[in-house]
Amino acid sequence: MKYSDTKWDFKQADTKEFTHCFHSYPAMMIPQIARKLIKSYSKNVKLLFDPYCGTGTSLVEANLKNIDGIGTDLNPLARLIAKVKTTPINIQTLDLYLKDFNDKSFAIRFGIATKDEIKLPDFKNIDFWFAKNTQKYLAIIKDYINNIEDINLQDFFRVAFSETVRDCSFTKKGEFKLVRIPLKKLQSFKPDVFGIMISKLLRNKKGLIEFMNSKNNGANTNIYSFNSTYSIPQSIIPEKSVDLVITSPPYGDSRTTVAYGQFSRLANQWLDYDDASQIDNNLMGGKKLNNYDFDSKILIETISKIQNKDNKRAKDVISFFADYYKSISNVSSVTKKGAYICYVVGNRTVKDTKIPTDIITKDFFESNGFKHKKTIIRNIPNKRMPSKNSPSNQVGKKSSTIKNEYIVICQKQI
Ligand SMILES: C[S@@+](CC[C@H](N)C(=O)[O-])C[C@H]1O[C@@H](n2cnc3c(N)ncnc32)[C@H](O)[C@@H]1O
Repeated sequence: MKYSDTKWDFKQADTKEFTHCFHSYPAMMIPQIARKLIKSYSKNVKLLFDPYCGTGTSLVEANLKNIDGIGTDLNPLARLIAKVKTTPINIQTLDLYLKDFNDKSFAIRFGIATKDEIKLPDFKNIDFWFAKNTQKYLAIIKDYINNIEDINLQDFFRVAFSETVRDCSFTKKGEFKLVRIPLKKLQSFKPDVFGIMISKLLRNKKGLIEFMNSKNNGANTNIYSFNSTYSIPQSIIPEKSVDLVITSPPYGDSRTTVAYGQFSRLANQWLDYDDASQIDNNLMGGKKLNNYDFDSKILIETISKIQNKDNKRAKDVISFFADYYKSISNVSSVTKKGAYICYVVGNRTVKDTKIPTDIITKDFFESNGFKHKKTIIRNIPNKRMPSKNSPSNQVGKKSSTIKNEYIVICQKQI
């Protein structure tokens, strides 16, 4: 069964409630989708799994409903955000730090304290992306954060810092990829680094209080660095223990769709996450394959159509879906009999050929012992994704991308 349902569009919805306001990220799931899915499928559910948890939208929603959550993602920035969004902290201690940080930043901004002795980080292209003065202020904030003893409080500050890094860099706003603002605008770009950091901290504190007041339960959330194409060790998730999966997988490989690693690179570098520039190569479809034996007629036909036009692009598609299949088999091995999986996917176009990812997702789950229940088609009014992107990865070259999403729901039979 497959049908359109505008009730899933959530046109006017506030997508920034609770801790959902903490940090932007490409192609975030909107909380209302996870919420509605949890409401429909949460009978007797104790453990939710999100294999591509990103910033943890479905984990936050599960946590609010007293459901334990496990999330995995390869991007360290995404994992940090997901952790902070699901971790309560002591607000009184937070307030003490906020006051202290505010006082220190006031003293520096108005020249009462010195800022000269701070050591600047030394990563590739730092001068290309940040003015020297901005580097100094960011280094002071980083140093302040590193001296916070409580790790959860430190991480709370790190999330606000990450967005501050992005806002204060020469990155063109509203782009996923790293694109620098035009030269003529560089001179006049003088961000108020401390002011930006403080406003993010205050916004996030408000969201956290809202989350903690609504949570009122003992649900736990654990987030792991894990490649979803590897088989899942029992130490992360025991076999057949998951009651519900709600996730939004990537639309395709990072090079030709959403470059999660590139989006996060500057923040990852400032946060000292190693190999920040390598993330995109390790995400789904990052390692290229020439062929794969797929158990989906429609996928085989689609690949053959693309092969006739462009063999290289066909390889991108093969590589992505080979990883996707492995990851679906892994998800299947940890889900219980009767468990529901809800995959929110987009059908992208490659070389003018529409890739029916929703049907492929259904096929892959069916070959892993699931029964397809339904696919709901929704419009995307407010997902943080442009309706245009650059499939060739060339700045300025645009083509239409995804305007609908498909929520594929299957149930485990064995
Ligand atoms: C569409 S985003 C998820 C967004 C998330 N639902 C949210 O609301 O923030 C897809 C995520 O998949 C992650 N990812 C891609 N390939 C992966 C892999 N092989 N293993 C684990 N995570 C991967 C990316 O880092 C990205 O965060």
